[in-house]
Amino acid sequence: MIQVENLFYTYPGNMSPTIKNVNVSIKDGEIFGFLGPSGAGKSTIQKILIGVLKDYQGNVRVLNQDVSKASSQFYRQLGVAFETPNFYQKFTAKENLEFFAGFYNNNRLNVEELLEKVALKDAYNTRVSNFSKGMKMRLNIVRAFLHNPDLIFLDEPTSGLDPVNVKKVKQFLLEQKAKGKTIILNTHNMNVAETLCDRVAFVVEGEINLIDSPKKLKEAFSRNEIAVLYKEAGKENLEYFQMKLLGQNKQFQQILKGDELIKISTVEKTLEDIFVEVTGRELHDSKTN
Ligand SMILES: Nc1ncnc2c1ncn2[C@@H]1O[C@H](COP(=O)(O)OP(=O)(O)OP(=O)(O)O)[C@@H](O)[C@H]1O
Ligand SMILES: [Mg+2]
Repeated sequence: MIQVENLFYTYPGNMSPTIKNVNVSIKDGEIFGFLGPSGAGKSTIQKILIGVLKDYQGNVRVLNQDVSKASSQFYRQLGVAFETPNFYQKFTAKENLEFFAGFYNNNRLNVEELLEKVALKDAYNTRVSNFSKGMKMRLNIVRAFLHNPDLIFLDEPTSGLDPVNVKKVKQFLLEQKAKGKTIILNTHNMNVAETLCDRVAFVVEGEINLIDSPKKLKEAFSRNEIAVLYKEAGKENLEYFQMKLLGQNKQFQQILKGDELIKISTVEKTLEDIFVEVTGRELHDSKTN
């Protein structure tokens, strides 16, 4: 679906490149996440992949085409939701979607059904000027799917959404994946990355440090340890044990025999822990999503 080789991009007027030697290949039907702190270059990469920034170096093929030579057919197969929702404020949700649907001749999805999927059915006839930020975000997401495209780019799709609506958006995207769509998203929300993405790429300072599935990353980085919390002489102790040969560990057996065991849990790393370990960078800044 997407093949990127040796991609470099320098914004006009800048001395050094913002995107440095990015290589990535994305398969049909994947949900793929670009993960990284603010300013890492996620939106820049996305703008190159959708053909908005053309003056790049390297090879970028999307939907079997060289994006620098993208045709109008290319744009019919592509759905995009930019970071900041952009709608006609005086139009209702329905009027906005119908307006945008008017650009496409056929193969449109039902506007009402789409709005229902992201809990906006009641807002069907509400003017967008009266929408909250989260409502605009959800409208923005479904708009990208309106013309039933094969490949959809979403820039920070869950930014500004409460947990209930994050869940609805995740559900909607999984339904779309089940229909065979390929979805590329940018996020700093680790939960979204972990529960939604088939694979993630860690982006830091314009480079991709690592690409893998959240599950494989968690397996590879987990230390296979358990944490045992117990009481000894009235004092709480926390001890870590390797899972390997645990049954033969004398100290562990001793704790089990005592009656002051409080809790045994597996020690798992979150995707966020792994991100910090791999990149040496925190994922979160002042942004709250
Ligand atoms: N039009 C532009 N001209 C020059 N520099 C730009 C332009 N747009 C972005 N940049 C710079 O490129 C770098 C990457 O920006 P980008 O928007 O791709 O980051 P991001 O990973 O999407 O961040 P965020 O999580 O905040 O959205 C930043 O240093 C930014 O200042
Ligand atoms: Mg961005």
